[in-house]
Amino acid sequence: MKNLIFFLFFALLGAALFLEFKRLTVKPWPAAHFADIEDHFKYGSIGAEVDGFPYAIWRELPAIFAEDIPEGFATFGFLTEPGHELPIGVSVRRVGVERVGFNCGTCHVSTYRVDGEEHMVLGAPAHMLDLQAYITFLAKATADDRLTADAVIEAAEADGRRPSFLDKVVLRFVVFPRLEAQVAQLRNSLAWMENRPAHGPGRTDAGNFWRERWGLRPGDDLRVGTVDFPAVWNQQTRLDGSFHWDGNNRSLDERNISAALAGGAPEWLLETRSINRISDWLMELPPPAYPAAINAELAAEGHAIYLREGCDSCHDVGGAALGKVTHAALLGTDPERTDLFDEVMVGYFGQVGAKYSWQFSNYRVTEGYANMPLDGIWMRAPYLHNGSVPTMADLLAPAEERPVTFFTGCPEFDTARMGFACEAGFVFDTEDIGNGNGGHLYGTALPEPEKLALIEYLKTL
Ligand code: HEC
Ligand code: HEC
Repeated sequence: MKNLIFFLFFALLGAALFLEFKRLTVKPWPAAHFADIEDHFKYGSIGAEVDGFPYAIWRELPAIFAEDIPEGFATFGFLTEPGHELPIGVSVRRVGVERVGFNCGTCHVSTYRVDGEEHMVLGAPAHMLDLQAYITFLAKATADDRLTADAVIEAAEADGRRPSFLDKVVLRFVVFPRLEAQVAQLRNSLAWMENRPAHGPGRTDAGNFWRERWGLRPGDDLRVGTVDFPAVWNQQTRLDGSFHWDGNNRSLDERNISAALAGGAPEWLLETRSINRISDWLMELPPPAYPAAINAELAAEGHAIYLREGCDSCHDVGGAALGKVTHAALLGTDPERTDLFDEVMVGYFGQVGAKYSWQFSNYRVTEGYANMPLDGIWMRAPYLHNGSVPTMADLLAPAEERPVTFFTGCPEFDTARMGFACEAGFVFDTEDIGNGNGGHLYGTALPEPEKLALIEYLKTL
């Protein structure tokens, strides 16, 4: 009798493990879709969970590593809303086991604080999110002795979750043994970051993740592609121009797909319907209104100065040079990002999506940065493609008077200087490679009262 029970027990366990193993290797489950487009932008899936961190472990990390990340994932600048367990920008999907992935909201949602009140803005650059610190943390945590199956089960139970017997078996014998290998691979693929300046909050590297993926060994050189997250509202005004900071692509479809691939979606699992739905919604998503009073008379004076200085030609819809690329030598801003996207990169981009109907063919080399609309420009601080200038007042100052170092990563908004004013946080050093704060000298020689008028006008955009 006893033997029979043992036999049945192991037969059942074997069958359960077999089924679970099949789930680990078979088709991903349906992705999270939300009826409300704003919820979908913040919490929906773009197909990026496939290689994601196992959710059962991920959700216990804040408890297990409470000393390292006292505020949980908010330590890295992730935002959460009441009623949602997951932070904005994180979706969960079962691919074998449940896994977490990024979505468009990860890098394109943010908040600001004025008069002690915090407000969320969809489509704004995630200027507080330190993605690099987050990814590095995940890679390190996995190699840490504190992270064991027992610790995960204990943390789950302490929080009122009760992993079933099967959950525990899968965690111990399937998820954990695989995690090591998965993350070892991740660690190797991030090695190139070690000899480059930290990205800090609000930025990522737009080129070197691709180069790593293509075997171009970014670890062997020091080239930097660090960029500030851009705003993504009002995309209808960008259609005649070129996308990305350096204007390297004019195709809307390729821009959307490359965004999803960069977010972690594999070519075979693009959630095209989801991505197109978001792209359509971004066409007319309005930029946020300035969060303080505007002096209309002063703004009108500022508009005249803006026109007189020719800002409109590069920055206004209908302007002669909107959407064109201004040569880096003329502009004078840091050239690293545009230099990184060379013919070699374009060649590899042309192979992305081979065998799919959407294979890329529109990437190109430019030698500068694209002229773009300035809508909602107040919420796009810090300024320039590398986020090297903290406020508008600083951007209108001669380059040598701009701050050499400053803090980033806080929501405190300075309505007078137009930009985030952080008293602590990540130290942005403009002397590091790729972080140069020179160039774009337009308006920097104006008399002080004219600068104030110009800023007043920029508040209205
Ligand atoms: C990991 C962070 C990240 C994720 C996830 C992400 N983006 Fe982006 N996005 C960026 C960065 C960085 C750039 C600028 C790249 C450059 O120009 O060098 C960008 C550029 C863009 C642009 C072009 C803006 C312009 O003015 O040229 C649009 C539009 C956009 N993203 C939309 C999306 C959509 C839609 C998704 C989801 C499918 C998405 N992004 C996911 C970081 C992200
Ligand atoms: C010849 C074209 C040109 C003219 C003229 C010009 N700009 Fe720009 N502007 C650019 C380009 C290109 C960038 C992006 C540079 C970079 O990020 O390296 C930029 C960036 C900016 C930014 C920062 C955008 C961001 O998202 O960080 C602001 C603000 C701005 N310009 C305001 C102005 C004002 C105000 C004037 C007039 C006094 C002006 N510009 C004149 C081409 C121009």
